[in-house]
Amino acid sequence: MLIAPSLLAADFTQIGNEARRAFIAGADWLHLDVMDGHFVDNVSFGPDVCAAVRRAVGPTAFLDAHLMITAPDHYYPRFVKAGVNLICIHAELDGQVDLSATLRGIREAGVQCGLAVNPATPWEACLPYLEAVDMVLVMSVVPGFGGQSFMGEVLDKVRALAAWRKEHGASFLIQMDGGIGAEQAPLCREAGADCLVAGSSTFRAKSMSDAIMTMRNA
Ligand code: DX5
Ligand code: ZN
Repeated sequence: MLIAPSLLAADFTQIGNEARRAFIAGADWLHLDVMDGHFVDNVSFGPDVCAAVRRAVGPTAFLDAHLMITAPDHYYPRFVKAGVNLICIHAELDGQVDLSATLRGIREAGVQCGLAVNPATPWEACLPYLEAVDMVLVMSVVPGFGGQSFMGEVLDKVRALAAWRKEHGASFLIQMDGGIGAEQAPLCREAGADCLVAGSSTFRAKSMSDAIMTMRNA
């Protein structure tokens, strides 16, 4: 199980140190929540902060950018340039954005690509793209804010995606994001998740390394 602390829950006065702290505590990935105030009701940070995080953590740490923005096709090159390793865009933009072209563009730029689904979006929204993604992100909260409660009903989508993957011999990772801590991690694992994003339960834990280890071994 990969554990990806979300920088959204970090102390923003210490952003570089916080990013390093996550990897020192044993994080596999660092999750970067990018919000534009349109796709979600919040604004977080953009490519320049992601580039600063890259400088802080060095060249080999894995950075996972979750773009909660309405124009990922326009902005993804800036996140590529910032040095992230994976860029995840939202399936809800289907019809507004050419998702296939955007996913392909991300990959051709040498970066892994992912597709995210909100709690209200059926997993089947990903179906046309499952051969073309490295990861599917199943949101377990309505995106926009950290610190919300886990929505257990999305576990059925994880089960369905894991079954599809097995049946088709596909290899995309399944990530879950929102309201995840030690209590939710075993449920996510049983459903078939491979990567857990955790903001509050890692950055605000008494011991981040204990929190990460507990979730990984759940
Ligand atoms: C929500 C973000 C999540 C979230 C995780 O919009 O995508 O990454 O902030 O934070 P916690 O773990 O606090 O729910
Ligand atoms: Zn996220």
